[in-house]
Amino acid sequence: MLIYNTWYVAAEPQELNGGPLARTVLNTPVVLFRTDSGQIAALEDRCPHRFVPLSLGRVAGENIQCGYHGAQFDTRGNFHLVPGQSSVPNTCIKRFPTLQKHGYVWIWMGEPELSSDVSSIPEFLYRGDHPDWDGGYGHFESIQASYSLINDNLFDITHAEYVHPGSFGGEEMRFYRQLHEGHDFVDQKTTYSIGERSITFRVRSLNMDAGGPFYRWMVSTSMGVEHYAGKVDLDMQVDWGAPSYTSFLLNARPSGKAPADGAQVCNMHAVTPETATSSHYFFRSVKNYGGEELAGPFMEGVRAIFDQDQPILEAQQRNIGDEEVLTRKSVAFAGDMLYRRARVINAQLAELEKNLALTS
Ligand code: FES
Ligand SMILES: [Fe+2]
Repeated sequence: MLIYNTWYVAAEPQELNGGPLARTVLNTPVVLFRTDSGQIAALEDRCPHRFVPLSLGRVAGENIQCGYHGAQFDTRGNFHLVPGQSSVPNTCIKRFPTLQKHGYVWIWMGEPELSSDVSSIPEFLYRGDHPDWDGGYGHFESIQASYSLINDNLFDITHAEYVHPGSFGGEEMRFYRQLHEGHDFVDQKTTYSIGERSITFRVRSLNMDAGGPFYRWMVSTSMGVEHYAGKVDLDMQVDWGAPSYTSFLLNARPSGKAPADGAQVCNMHAVTPETATSSHYFFRSVKNYGGEELAGPFMEGVRAIFDQDQPILEAQQRNIGDEEVLTRKSVAFAGDMLYRRARVINAQLAELEKNLALTS
């Protein structure tokens, strides 16, 4: 089940520096390009003359030029010129609204008249925009797994102990299964709240001797020591927004220290369906400790963590095949309730769109 009437991340802006970019979004081949004056546009990636992808062409001033016979189209998809011809055909290519926000190029694939509603772009995707924080952006293109499986993966922190034992995974993740409704941190438990199209949960783990190695690294680095050997406290707040946006806010500190003095990391994730069974995954990670000289290794580490998730997600998808992930039945563990609620929210949004299409 794909959801169309929502904004998706289409690209990182620098991906358009080298000319037109081809990217399939929601089963539709799209060409994204930036004109000489800096305007960004997205059109169906198919020339109406002889169906060559426009992404094989080039940007020509304020237009995109097809690489086969040189026809040019403006940012609205209208013919601008046909070489050697005094008039242009009165037809246009499908255009998709775009905007730039939170360091991304966003695209709207649904009903164009609904695109003025930008409420589906969560503010939590831009946490840590502060001169004292550093980090960066990255993405994985065409992961062979449904956006829904990636959503599930981000909700399900209990996999970290087994898939990411060298970084995020320690026994503290088991507190995730102790779910209680509420908005505050509760020691050694997870509290959660569910909105109309959002879910938030908070996990507080105190006095950890072991814990995920990454949290100890956060504490050691923020203290400027090689290896902090004492106990660690960890707060984790996870915010999810439909259909596929997630933010992890981590706060690690020596046990007993106030959270306000903790080392913080924010990992933000935006998943864009390529097809029903494949996805583009964009991430942004920032930290408030260790200085900018550690930003490079920090980002490499973040990337390496998703490198561990990708084969699992793709193997899952191969086992599921083309069956609908959102409604597929599976055995549930304690704690699975949250990602299942997210699935219900997404299934309802998809259903709502179907009904709207039937009545309009
Ligand atoms: S295919 Fe594009 S101009 Fe001919
Ligand atoms: Fe993971």
